[in-house]
Amino acid sequence: MAVEGRPFQLVVFGASGFTGQFVAEEVAREASGPDSAGARLAWAVAGRSREKLLGVLDRAARKLGRPTLTSEVGIIICDISNPASLDEMAQQAAIVLNCVGPYRFYGEPVVKACIENGASCIDICGEPQFLEEMHWKYNEKAAEKGVYIIGSSGFDSIPADLGVLYTRNMLKGTLTAVESFLTVNSGPEGMCIHDGTWQSAVHGFGDQNRLKALRKQAKHKPLPIVGAKMKRRWPVSYTRELKQYSIPFMGADASVVRRTQRYLYEKHEESPVQYAAYVTLGGVTSVVKLMFAGLFFLFFVKFRFGRHLLVKFPWLFSFGYFTKQGPTQKQMEDASFTFTFFGQGYSHGHSPKHGKPNVKICTQVKGPEPGYVATPIAMVQAAVTLLKDTPSLPKEGGVFTPGAAFSKTKLLDRLNKHGIEFSIISHPEI
Ligand SMILES: NC(=O)c1ccc[n+]([C@@H]2O[C@H](COP(=O)([O-])OP(=O)(O)OC[C@H]3O[C@@H](n4cnc5c(N)ncnc54)[C@H](OP(=O)(O)O)[C@@H]3O)[C@@H](O)[C@H]2O)c1
Repeated sequence: MAVEGRPFQLVVFGASGFTGQFVAEEVAREASGPDSAGARLAWAVAGRSREKLLGVLDRAARKLGRPTLTSEVGIIICDISNPASLDEMAQQAAIVLNCVGPYRFYGEPVVKACIENGASCIDICGEPQFLEEMHWKYNEKAAEKGVYIIGSSGFDSIPADLGVLYTRNMLKGTLTAVESFLTVNSGPEGMCIHDGTWQSAVHGFGDQNRLKALRKQAKHKPLPIVGAKMKRRWPVSYTRELKQYSIPFMGADASVVRRTQRYLYEKHEESPVQYAAYVTLGGVTSVVKLMFAGLFFLFFVKFRFGRHLLVKFPWLFSFGYFTKQGPTQKQMEDASFTFTFFGQGYSHGHSPKHGKPNVKICTQVKGPEPGYVATPIAMVQAAVTLLKDTPSLPKEGGVFTPGAAFSKTKLLDRLNKHGIEFSIISHPEI
């Protein structure tokens, strides 16, 4: 990717946010040694408060055992409500790592400024509506400018999107359907998620009609179903293999994986994989607790006043799962995630046009705490891949999912080296 003439290869925008601070720390870690060509990564933090940005750099320096980072990291003052400041930030960056959310409110001006000023942009958005709308509005403009706008490059949805591609590549034959099951494990002090993600979810669910309208407007032809049609599970189902109850996963994964499959089918004529995403809940008590929380949420989210209450009291309405403080260091250290993928397809020599699938595979993606440890790793490794693997990227720029942008790159190897590990659990059985 071309970076000539720009002072910074990476700019972390929203570095003062709860997630942004960990992204800045991860970039600092990545920049702490020279790369294979002997060069050091040039980077900056951006946001609307210099004081907060200095605080983030101080904290990152302490965590990395460095006396200071301020002498080697740029600081850019930039506010979404000031378009000139966004232009100035984008002009100085090869890639903007955008951590300012909810993206439905703050994301579009950043995408626009990046495209107009020739910078690429990576975000960690988990809001399908924003992601699909940016594709719809800006794909051609980004391609004209030769920049890469890559959404959902955090825990939502790099493990799921690349996990499906990994499963496909490991199966000898044609993979036709995958179910993924996400399990999040916490330590003795439990687990919680920061309010920023809660706000994105509240407004996303509250405005689902816009997503439906957007999809209607896009007029996509349905993707062809290759092989036997995948059966959908009940809203609550017991997964024998994992010995746990599960429900459909309401995050962005299904939308992102579907868009990747569409891209690979339309651009490269690759056979599309059917996909369904689930999250495991454990035993019956957790199912009942979650059903109550879910019913409250779905009721309140419909009304403006309900959304106001949800945003004001995240802790109360999420049964303590979302808080304004976010998880503690200890909670993050003790947490981890596992994505298990059950795939099925047709071995070489068996046509998916006839009969039932005759081959199965199980793979996993495992990693540290999802929101604030795995997400910064995924985002920063996506950025490093964008900088280094130019020949393996799609030839023209555009608006991409992680799978569409990175399917031919070494991102998966980099993630493996940084603790987000892809592995085969059971080899294809016929
Ligand atoms: N994909 C994933 O798995 C994943 C994981 C974690 C988070 N996320 C997403 O990341 C986003 C951020 O979450 P968070 O918990 O970090 O939220 P947060 O702590 O509220 O951070 C928001 C950031 O946006 C900045 N900001 C707000 N308004 C701004 C403006 N007008 N101009 C410039 N900057 C502005 C804030 O700056 P100030 O400090 O100046 O207020 C802050 O840096 C959310 O959308 C969340 O869903 C995704």
